[in-house]
Amino acid sequence: MTIEKIRMRSYFYRRSLAVVLAALLLAGCDGVQSTLAPAGTAAEIIADLFWVMVIAGSIIWVLVVGLSIYATHVRQHAHDPKLARWLIIGGGAIFPSVVLAALLIWSLTLMEPLRSEKGSDLHIAVSGEQWWWRVNYLVEDGPNIELANEIRLPVGKRAKFTLTSPDVIHSFWVPSLGGKVDMIPGRVTTLILEPTETGIFRGACAEYCGASHAFMNFDVVVMKQDEFDQWLKLQAQPADQPELTLAAQGQEAFLANGCGACHTIRGTPAQGDIGPDLTHVASRLRIGAGLLPNTPGAFMRWMDHTQALKPDVKMPSFGMVPQEELTAIAAYLGELE
Ligand code: CUA
Repeated sequence: MTIEKIRMRSYFYRRSLAVVLAALLLAGCDGVQSTLAPAGTAAEIIADLFWVMVIAGSIIWVLVVGLSIYATHVRQHAHDPKLARWLIIGGGAIFPSVVLAALLIWSLTLMEPLRSEKGSDLHIAVSGEQWWWRVNYLVEDGPNIELANEIRLPVGKRAKFTLTSPDVIHSFWVPSLGGKVDMIPGRVTTLILEPTETGIFRGACAEYCGASHAFMNFDVVVMKQDEFDQWLKLQAQPADQPELTLAAQGQEAFLANGCGACHTIRGTPAQGDIGPDLTHVASRLRIGAGLLPNTPGAFMRWMDHTQALKPDVKMPSFGMVPQEELTAIAAYLGELE
């Protein structure tokens, strides 16, 4: 192979690599969990702030690099002292002060719309647990609606979130909808989210909170107002009694094995509040805080290998329960829509 051919080939490989890398980078800007694909008012403000900062920073960088190339390569002899003084005072003090002050003042004006609670009629309390999300819809004069690891919101409406944690610090973050806010034990922090598009978005814990921090995710489903109202009405109902024989056996096994000591299923004697409320667990998209799909097989896997799937979680593995009973419990949970 001639040197020319080797050069051409290496040029081709480098270009292909650059294209693949650029595609991968751009792919990271899209999807259900990206600040650069905003689907909420707060996320749009944050994305605008990001782009203005990136563009302003890039212009200044090009200017500084251009000047240094000019000084070292184009005009290499000594500069006029008067011009040099102006360059230092103007470019080193006045220009950055003006630009940084302008950017600071502009970014401060963005805080008010981000934090304003005006028009936020929907109030949701979220508690960061190890390692899942306890979600309470606080409806005035209504029943307590508790669910876990899934939040549904009506599109175009402002929702107020109050965030806390019973033990360690977590951080509540739905990048497509807004900024991230810490959940601090002993304190209540607030966040306003106003989704502008319907769809399913992914939320995550953004603060290291223990062994299974990486397995602490949730789904945010943004729906049309009437669909949301219907959904919330259903969530307020107690659980239906099981229809299939297998599911009825599952309910019996669920209660007999003491699952109700940690989990609540409204409408049954299960009233525990250590683990997630399972009243309508089958209506959720995923189980185990975003870990597994919501299928009877996944319920089986979860109960059988809890500690392997989510190390150090408070729920022990229930592999010692006979498989027939686990199958029945999975069938029962699968009916709790
Ligand atoms: Cu909760 Cu990290």
